[in-house]
Amino acid sequence: MAILVVLLVLLFTKPGFSQKTDSNNTNVIAMRCGRNTLVNQQNFIKNRNSTFRDLRTQLLDQRLLYARAQAISSGDSVFAAVQCRNYLSTDQCVACFDESVSELLICNSGNGGFISFDNCYVRYEDYAGFYNDPYVMADADQTPTLTCGNESASQPTVFNQVIDAFLSDITKATPKTSNFYVASTRQITSENKTVYMIAQCVEGMAQDSCQTCMNSAYDTLNDCFPNTQGRFFHLACFARYSDTPFFNVNQTIDITNLLKGHSSSVAVIAAAVAGGTVLFLLVLLSWLLYRSWKKSKKTEQEFEGAVHYNYKDLQLATDDFSEENIIGKGGFGEVFKAVFDDNNVVAVKKLLLTHNGAKEEFENEVMLISNIHHRNLLRLLGWSVEGSYLLLVLEYMPNGSLDKFLWGTKRGTLNWDQRYEIIFGIARGLAHLHNEFHIKIIHRDIKSANILLSDDFKPKIADFGLARFQPEDQSQVRTKFAGTLGYTAPEYALRGVLSEKVDTYSFGIVTLEIISGKRSTEVKSGSQDTDYLIEHTWKLYEKKTHVKVIDDTLNLNQYEQEHVMKIIEIALLCTQSPASSRPTMSEVVLMLQEGQSLGKRKLTRPTFVNNQDRRIHIG
Ligand SMILES: *[C@@H]1O[C@H](CO)[C@@H](O)[C@H](O)[C@H]1NC(C)=O
Ligand SMILES: *[C@@H]1O[C@H](CO)[C@@H](O)[C@H](O)[C@H]1NC(C)=O
Ligand SMILES: *[C@@H]1O[C@H](CO)[C@@H](O)[C@H](O)[C@H]1NC(C)=O
Ligand SMILES: *[C@@H]1O[C@H](CO)[C@@H](O)[C@H](O)[C@H]1NC(C)=O
Ligand SMILES: *[C@@H]1O[C@H](CO)[C@@H](O)[C@H](O)[C@H]1NC(C)=O
Repeated sequence: MAILVVLLVLLFTKPGFSQKTDSNNTNVIAMRCGRNTLVNQQNFIKNRNSTFRDLRTQLLDQRLLYARAQAISSGDSVFAAVQCRNYLSTDQCVACFDESVSELLICNSGNGGFISFDNCYVRYEDYAGFYNDPYVMADADQTPTLTCGNESASQPTVFNQVIDAFLSDITKATPKTSNFYVASTRQITSENKTVYMIAQCVEGMAQDSCQTCMNSAYDTLNDCFPNTQGRFFHLACFARYSDTPFFNVNQTIDITNLLKGHSSSVAVIAAAVAGGTVLFLLVLLSWLLYRSWKKSKKTEQEFEGAVHYNYKDLQLATDDFSEENIIGKGGFGEVFKAVFDDNNVVAVKKLLLTHNGAKEEFENEVMLISNIHHRNLLRLLGWSVEGSYLLLVLEYMPNGSLDKFLWGTKRGTLNWDQRYEIIFGIARGLAHLHNEFHIKIIHRDIKSANILLSDDFKPKIADFGLARFQPEDQSQVRTKFAGTLGYTAPEYALRGVLSEKVDTYSFGIVTLEIISGKRSTEVKSGSQDTDYLIEHTWKLYEKKTHVKVIDDTLNLNQYEQEHVMKIIEIALLCTQSPASSRPTMSEVVLMLQEGQSLGKRKLTRPTFVNNQDRRIHIG
């Protein structure tokens, strides 16, 4: 290809904002022009004009909502595509296209350009690769564009929850439709409002790239919450929500069928330890083949996933892994704060691998977890290998871990709304690990110390996907199973029986810790009451006085107390045995979201594995 680098320059939109409006008062969401000029620029523009005419004819005559056109000649070929949102009529689509074309005239001196409005997306380049791979050849500036409205929902907590779940569903459903387009609505009963949402990936692209782009939309668009409007644009996809209708309700697409059956083709990673190694290896192998195939198709800069870091750079950024830079110590090794010259702060987890073959396993695992994107899961940014040390580069969370806020130095600083958001976020993160990824991942070590808090106190689960790399007999509370006593489901702690319900159990325990501000293994000193948190909670629940579990530092009104009592009941449900009587994490998310009570479900006394003697307590 003659021109190897396409430099796109941001013309009049800073990523993130655009005030420009067209005459129909729709925003220019994003626009850029190619910066290279061609040998025969005049001819290139002539070709562009003719492809635009061709596109317009296709839209109008064939009543298409997506069209491609090209004018091929040596040295000044033009390839162009237009995509309208599917809720538009032909006239509306053509109107948006015309508007785009007139805006794109200012790209006259470059070798391409694109523009996105609410209603359509037009792009032309001097190469055809972008048709099927919107990211190809694009320069480093792939910053998505986010535009939020200017009004906030009247009930932010409810709004955030509903829209978050809605967006998550749209994220899952869009890549599964035949035309990568979804339009849907959802009610916010308490606000008597309907929220409208659409998402669309560029037609003809690969399904997994569509999913990647939608994941990015999911991660980014929530910065608009609880704003009543938001738009996300990236080269490959567009998503928009608003509480003002922008399509007709009879134009919605039923997505319920697309959301079913997530766990059907799932393999349990963690099962590799307990057995089923062959199946696991097969799955892993096909996954790796798929990955390398996908990699070979990508240009050098991968849009998603972790990057390889140079060990020397990490050494420098952590001041040679100095004591002062240690921000945490876990079962997996020490965690260091690393500061790069550009003030970019990350966390680096340093692991010592003890057995042969661990390195390969580790690299496979890194590939796997680097593809997991969820706002409640700590993101892996990169990795490095040096000797028998493996380094994980992770998001840095200035607020540290949840336990410090419950009983550590910052005890009592979290209010109920924040605690509830944390409980809900952990549930969503786990549901994602269990269901929303092609391989089921069981965390196995959910505990308050593994939940990190962002600067606005949103939870992020750390250490997922790494349970297998845990060194044996690290400390007295750790045993051969990859878990922590006090949090671990009895069937796993005692018999090594592993299922996703192991995480459900630990989630229940963490929830009780968040509500009570007490450690799961704490026994009130100086009292004859020697019960651990869960036994204590159960006894109060039997007497219907579980309101007493609530942390004294929280000052809750009647209504809030009732809400918390419901959540305590959900937590107890999560800690039931046998494992089959526990809900899945998706069910937990639903129960929390809809404020469900247990209904007809009967609770029985939870079982609990004692920290010191590993007796099983059945009461
Ligand atoms: C391309 O189209 C624009 C707008 O219609 C026109 O002003 C311009 O002269 C055309 N350029 C060429 C080279 O055809
Ligand atoms: C505004 O949109 C309508 C179609 O919805 C179109 O007929 C009209 O020409 C547009 N106005 C302008 C100035 O583009
Ligand atoms: C939000 O923006 C719209 C359109 O720009 C304007 O009409 C409206 O008054 C604004 N609302 C607030 C609360 O600023
Ligand atoms: C909800 O909104 C609709 C129209 O926006 C209105 O007709 C209806 O009375 C409202 N319902 C309540 C309970 O406020
Ligand atoms: C959708 O509703 C609009 C307005 O209510 C109507 O004009 C249009 O014909 C309907 N479309 C379909 C496909 O039913």
